[in-house]
Amino acid sequence: MTSGVRPVRGMNDVLPAEIGLWQHLEGALRELVALYGYQEIRVPIVEHTDLFKRSIGEFTDIVEKEMYTFADQGGDSLTLRPEATAGIARAAISNGMLRGQKHKLWCMGPMFRHERPQKGRYRQFHQFDVEALGFDGPDVDVELIVMMARLWRTLGLGRVSLQLNSLGTPQSRALYRERLVQYFRGHEAVLDEDSRRRLGGNPLRILDSKNPDMQALIAGAPLIVDHLDAGSLAHFETLQAALRAAGVGFTVNPRLVRGLDYYSRTVFEWITDALGSQDAVCSGGRYDGLITQLGGEATPAIGFAMGIERVVELLRLAQVVPVAHTPDAYIVAQGERATAAGLALAERLRDQLPRWRIAFGHGGGNFKAQFRRADRSGARLALVLGESELERGVIAIKNLRGETRQIECPMAEVGTRLEAEFKE
Ligand code: HAM
Repeated sequence: MTSGVRPVRGMNDVLPAEIGLWQHLEGALRELVALYGYQEIRVPIVEHTDLFKRSIGEFTDIVEKEMYTFADQGGDSLTLRPEATAGIARAAISNGMLRGQKHKLWCMGPMFRHERPQKGRYRQFHQFDVEALGFDGPDVDVELIVMMARLWRTLGLGRVSLQLNSLGTPQSRALYRERLVQYFRGHEAVLDEDSRRRLGGNPLRILDSKNPDMQALIAGAPLIVDHLDAGSLAHFETLQAALRAAGVGFTVNPRLVRGLDYYSRTVFEWITDALGSQDAVCSGGRYDGLITQLGGEATPAIGFAMGIERVVELLRLAQVVPVAHTPDAYIVAQGERATAAGLALAERLRDQLPRWRIAFGHGGGNFKAQFRRADRSGARLALVLGESELERGVIAIKNLRGETRQIECPMAEVGTRLEAEFKE
């Protein structure tokens, strides 16, 4: 394939045959956020590179090696957004949305990370992202979690479970970080290359290592819960009690540290056992310091992002069948005059019957070929218009599914007859 028609590695087309599940999911998400009073915000796909460096963190995988960064014609360094939180925080600051106000926001769209593509991990992927700005919780932490628990129920997805942790405040985390570095330095010979590199920049990420040779060492590492400040501990305990009261199951995973630097206190991840190694379907946490760090008024905040491709795959595995948008009626017309009359009829019916989906059999061919296409479209009814019908000013209505029934009716009455006799 020449590079002009070769898709970019890790970036996928969503074809019409697959779009049903996407739309099913997107529809459920829109209903969900409306239920909880969250408002949509749309932020640009491109931001200044510096925004992501300052928020996600210099020593994260995303910033170190996964960003699509380029210089534009004016020489500015820009980056395709690898996630939405930084852009939304930037938008809240640059639009003067803070000043003591609170916002419950959501957005949906493509994100870009130059990762090694594999099933469930792509270079362009889509997130459904929710952010609550101005709330210090833990009540809002609970809301975000029960909201997603509701989504899994609504979608009929059972193989999803919740992991929780608290990362404390930047101060308590700094103390913990020191303890952790001390511990790993004591075992430096056992550290793999990746972990040795992380020891200087981002030692907490060592806890996230998937290397089997590192697991025993990690299991013996000091735990962050034992180093939480009193405020964070109380926050974490209240959150857990409220989740228990709401009947949401969870596991505290003391090694859940997240791959982005802006988190404090609550972090969580919904994981699944149905997708192999790319098991996180929705992840997030609190980022009380981020907005100040970017130059805005101190604003506590929390949010999460769900990976749309991964949840679409869960829906496919659960054999969820989306509502098919097949036509209700398919117009089969033969001959030039019948085609013109058929096109006019189609428009009249779309005016008259706004709930009906009317398809027109473009592309000509004999009746047999056209009926084949009508059948393949999934339409319930065919409206047949040939020279002979045209002469007599009638149209034939033919049932394509179940009982085969055909009637003829005057052109002017088609709409009323369809509604009266053929409504689904
Ligand atoms: P994240 O954990 O980097 O967090 O990504 C959130 C979710 O996006 C993951 O759980 C996963 O489902 C999906 N995801 C991430 N990378 C890929 C990929 N390469 N291919 C397919 N799906 C992927 C964030 O992005 C934070 N901004 C979440 C957040 C919002 N925290 C606070 N507010």
